[in-house]
Amino acid sequence: MQTQIKKDPPAQKLTVFYNSDEISRRVVSLAQEIGEALRAENIASDKLIIISLLKGGFVFTADLIRALYAEGIHPQVDFMALSSYGMGKKSSGKVEIIGDTRENFKGRHALIVDDILESGHTLAFVKNLLKKRGAKSAKTVVFLEKPGKRETEIEADFVGFMVPDKFVVGYGLDSAHNFRELPFIAVLGD
Ligand code: IMP
Ligand code: MG
Repeated sequence: MQTQIKKDPPAQKLTVFYNSDEISRRVVSLAQEIGEALRAENIASDKLIIISLLKGGFVFTADLIRALYAEGIHPQVDFMALSSYGMGKKSSGKVEIIGDTRENFKGRHALIVDDILESGHTLAFVKNLLKKRGAKSAKTVVFLEKPGKRETEIEADFVGFMVPDKFVVGYGLDSAHNFRELPFIAVLGD
C-alpha cells in the first residue's frame, strides 16, 4: 500500500512495510518471548523496570506493556530521552541524555525498550549506564533491527522485525520529528 501524508512542503511518499495488524500480532508474540525468558531466569516481574527510550520508543512501549500484562508481567515503567541524530538521518555516534531517569537501579532488573537498533550506539550507551548504576541485569528489546549497520558490539535480546537498510518511519519513528503517529511502519521515499 502506498500513501501520502500532507506535510508542508513537500508531500512525501510512504510505502507501508508492516501494517498495524502485523504489528499487533508481533507485539503479542514478543511479549510471550519476553515472558518465557523472564520466567526461565526467575526474574519476578515486580522486580522489573522498563526503561523506554524517547522519543521513538513510546508507541512500542505503550503496546508492549499491555501485551506484557496479558503475560502476567507487571513492571514499573520509566523513560529516558536520548538523542543521537538531531535532525539528520545518520547517527552522530554521540548519544546525548536529554532527560534522565531518577530511578534507583541497585539490584533491579531492567528491560530497555527502543524503536530501532541501527548503529547500536544508543542501546549500548543505556545498557552500560544502567549497569553502572547498579542494575542486576539489563535486557534489551527493539521493535525493529537493521542488519549489517552495527558500529558497536551489541545485539538486542528481543527483536520485533527486521527492516531493510532504508529510512523507516511510523509507530513512533520519525523523520525530522514527523510521522510518529502513523499506525504502521513505512519506508520513506521510493
Ligand atoms: P542507533 O543508535 O544508530 O542504533 O540508532 C538508534 C536510534 O536511531 C533509534 O532509536 C532511532 O531513533 C534512530 N533511527 C535509526 N534508524 C532509523 C530509521 O530508519 N528511521 C527513524 N529513526 C531511526
Ligand atoms: Mg530513538
